[in-house]
Amino acid sequence: GWTMEDVLDEEIKVIKNTVGEDDHVICALSGGVDSTVAATLVHKAIGDRLHCVFVDNGLLRYKERERVMETFEKNLHLPVTCVDASNQFLTELKGVTDPEKKRKIIGKEFISIFDVFGQELEQKLGKKASYLVQGTLYPDVIESCPPPGSGRTHSHTIKSHHNVGGLPKDMKLKLIEPLKLLFKDEVRQLGKILDVPESFLKRHPFPGPGLAVRVLGDVTEGNALEILREVDEIFIQSIKDAGLYDSIWQAFAVFLPVRSVGVQGDQRTHSHVVALRAVTSQDGMTADWYYFEHKFLDDVARKICNGVRGVNRVVQDITSKPPSTIEWE
Ligand code: XMP
Repeated sequence: GWTMEDVLDEEIKVIKNTVGEDDHVICALSGGVDSTVAATLVHKAIGDRLHCVFVDNGLLRYKERERVMETFEKNLHLPVTCVDASNQFLTELKGVTDPEKKRKIIGKEFISIFDVFGQELEQKLGKKASYLVQGTLYPDVIESCPPPGSGRTHSHTIKSHHNVGGLPKDMKLKLIEPLKLLFKDEVRQLGKILDVPESFLKRHPFPGPGLAVRVLGDVTEGNALEILREVDEIFIQSIKDAGLYDSIWQAFAVFLPVRSVGVQGDQRTHSHVVALRAVTSQDGMTADWYYFEHKFLDDVARKICNGVRGVNRVVQDITSKPPSTIEWE
């Protein structure tokens, strides 16, 4: 049988063969497990001909940029350039409410940033980078476009994952996707062999389009992103404090584009509603909503309404996948 060590050796061979002796490779790090493991793997295969970029797209979670950059530098020793492109992304997303359009725009902006990064690298190196590493997993591949003979029945696109269906056709870089036959738990095993810190490997998945798929509707409207960041941080921190983080596949908050009436400090309020979502899953393909104790939910809801200006109502998502998806958009 195949072990993860075999997979690792095989992947390193394939990457070395694909890239050759002197080509350079770009990798976009999202701060998630997949891209980090993919980058670490490619780094092992071709060393400093790998050039990583981390894009702050303005759609990251609370203090995420600072937190992941520290991990890349301190623990992983990966060479990473941080590009602040928040304005560029948010300008393009202004007024856009259609979920698929949002994803397409984000995919396009990412690629344009990678192109610029590649051009700058070319000037520095005196030659072009030819490849782009992506941490695409098997479930991403089959959900966007089931491979023939895979036995999967859905033949339409459920969502354009930015790293699969949403790529523009004029992209100049060729793709390297070393994880595309693996499931999430296998990627974690691979990461362990590659000495990626345990705490990092246990991080919940985070979608490429970031908080854009968790602010329903126009992400630039009002201070939705700031509100969502604070709510999400309270929820996640409470989950960690309660020792529940590792029992949950994914937990996050969603900003709903509606207001509801409330009463806070003798005042009638007309403020925002946020939804909490937590699910268990094996691979993200199907998921069950997670059952929290009454007391836990009560504490979290109070902390959120007391601590986050502009929120007067907290609801919990109690649907599984199917019929819902894990994300709301
Ligand atoms: P859904 O919402 O389709 O999500 O049930 C399944 C898993 O995929 C993650 N997800 C994404 N990951 N780019 C990604 O890299 C994306 O565009 C994307 N959309 C969803 C989601 O967080 C869940 O873990």
